[in-house]
Amino acid sequence: MSEEKARIAVIGLGNAGLPLAAVAAEAGLEVVGVDINEERCRLINRGENPIPQEPGLEGLIRQHGGKSLVATPRFEDAKGCGTFIIIVPLFVDQGFNPDFKIMKQAALSLGKILQKGDLVVMETTVPPGTTEGLIRPWLLESSGLEPHDFHLAYSPERIMTGYSISRLREFPKVIGGCDEKSGLLAYRVYERFIPNLHLVSSARVAEMIKVMEGCYRDVNISLANELFKISEELGLDFFEARKYANHEYCHIHLPSTGVGGHCIPVYPWFLIKIMEEQELFDRTRLLRTSREINDEMIQYWAERILIECMKIEKPLGRVKICVKGITFRSCVKEFYHSRNMALVRLLTKKGLDARVYDTLLSRSEIEEKGFRYIEPADADLIFDPFALSFELHATRGDEVKASSKGQGDQGIEHPASQMNDETKAVRKMQGGCGRTL
Ligand SMILES: NC(=O)c1ccc[n+]([C@@H]2O[C@H](COP(=O)([O-])OP(=O)(O)OC[C@H]3O[C@@H](n4cnc5c(N)ncnc54)[C@H](O)[C@@H]3O)[C@@H](O)[C@H]2O)c1
Repeated sequence: MSEEKARIAVIGLGNAGLPLAAVAAEAGLEVVGVDINEERCRLINRGENPIPQEPGLEGLIRQHGGKSLVATPRFEDAKGCGTFIIIVPLFVDQGFNPDFKIMKQAALSLGKILQKGDLVVMETTVPPGTTEGLIRPWLLESSGLEPHDFHLAYSPERIMTGYSISRLREFPKVIGGCDEKSGLLAYRVYERFIPNLHLVSSARVAEMIKVMEGCYRDVNISLANELFKISEELGLDFFEARKYANHEYCHIHLPSTGVGGHCIPVYPWFLIKIMEEQELFDRTRLLRTSREINDEMIQYWAERILIECMKIEKPLGRVKICVKGITFRSCVKEFYHSRNMALVRLLTKKGLDARVYDTLLSRSEIEEKGFRYIEPADADLIFDPFALSFELHATRGDEVKASSKGQGDQGIEHPASQMNDETKAVRKMQGGCGRTL
C-alpha cells in the first residue's frame, strides 16, 4: 500500500468491524467506516463507544472517532480508499442454509465505488469458496470491472466479544488471496495494524481455517457434554476427572447447556451443507452428531431440573424455578441461538413455572423477551446455567414455613399421584437419585 493509499474502509461497524477499524486507526491508518446504521455512525463520530462491553474500545473511539476513524452510512464517502474490508453478518435460515442477503447487499454497494487496483478483503466467516464464488461475481456485477482489475482476499475475524482488542493485537490472524498477488498485497496492508499475521496459500484455506475452528469447538463441547453425562451416571466427579485428564495432548472442554451464539453452532452447517450438495452424507457424521448432542443438552438439564423440583415440598407446577441467565454465554449480552432461552421455554412447555433472572438484564428486558421475571430470593429452585449448579430453598424434609410467599409455599404434601407420567418416567430413568453438581 503506497502512502497515498494508506486509507482503508471497513464495511460494517458492528461487534467485529468496529474493534478492527479502531485498531487500524490506532496503528496510524486513515479509516473510513461504512455502516448503514446512521445512529451508530453519529455516535462513533462524536467519540462515543456504541459497544461499552468491549474492554479497551472506549479509549480508542474517544481518541480516533470522527478523526482518523470516520464513520459514514454512505459508500461514496469511502471511494478511493484503496482497501475495503467487508465484515457484515451472515446468518443461516431455518434449514441451516447460509443466507447471503446482507453480504450480497454490502458487496453490491461496494462494487459501485470500486476502482481499478483496489483491494477487497472479506472477513465475515463464510463457507469455503464464498469469496471467489460469490463475492467476486457480485463485485464484478455492480462495478463493471474485469476480474483482474481488482484484488481479492480473505482474512477470518477470530475475535471474541469481550476480548476483541486484545485478540486483534495478540492472537494469530491469517490472510489468503484469491491469487498470489492479492494475498501478498493484503498481507502488506494488514501487517500495518495486525502484529501476529500469517499469509496462507489461498483465500479458501483461510476460509476453512475459521470454519474448522468452529467445528473443533462444537465437537469437543459435545464430547465434554457426553463425558459429563456419563460421569453423572457413574456417580463420579467429572470436573475432578477432567482436571487430571487434561494435559498437553488432551483438552477436554467444559460441559454446558449447549452451544449458542452466531458462530460455533452455525459453522458446522457450512460444511454439512456443502457435503450434502455433493451427496457425501457420510463425510459429516461426527459434525451432525455433535450438533445433535449439544442441542439436546437442554432436554438433559430440563430433566435434572425436574428431579430437583421433586425435592421441594410443593406440587410440581407451583415450584418457582429461577433460571439465572438467558444470554448464550456468560457475561455477554447476546441471545442468538441461546440454549438458555430455549431451556426456559422447554421447562414452561413441560408445565413448570420457569422464570428468569439475569444480572445483565433489567426486569423489563426479560419481560420483553416473553419471560417471567423473578428475584432469585423468591425462587424455590435456582438453576445457574453457566455454573451448572442448583440452589434449593425449602426442600422436602425441611420445615417449610407457611409464610407470606403465597399459596404455593404452604407446605403442601407432594403425593406420588400428583406427578405426571413424564415426571415418573424421568425419575425412573434417573434412578430417583437427583444428584446435584
Ligand atoms: N462478534 C464476534 O464476536 C465475531 C467473532 C468472530 C467473527 N465474527 C464475524 O463477523 C461477522 C459480523 O459480526 P458482528 O458481530 O460484527 O455483527 P453485528 O451485527 O454486530 O454488526 C454488523 C454491522 O454491519 C452493519 N451492516 C449490515 N449491512 C450492511 C451493509 N450493507 N453495509 C454496511 N454495513 C452493514 C450493521 O448495521 C451492523 O452494524 C459475523 O458474521 C462473523 O462472521 C464476529
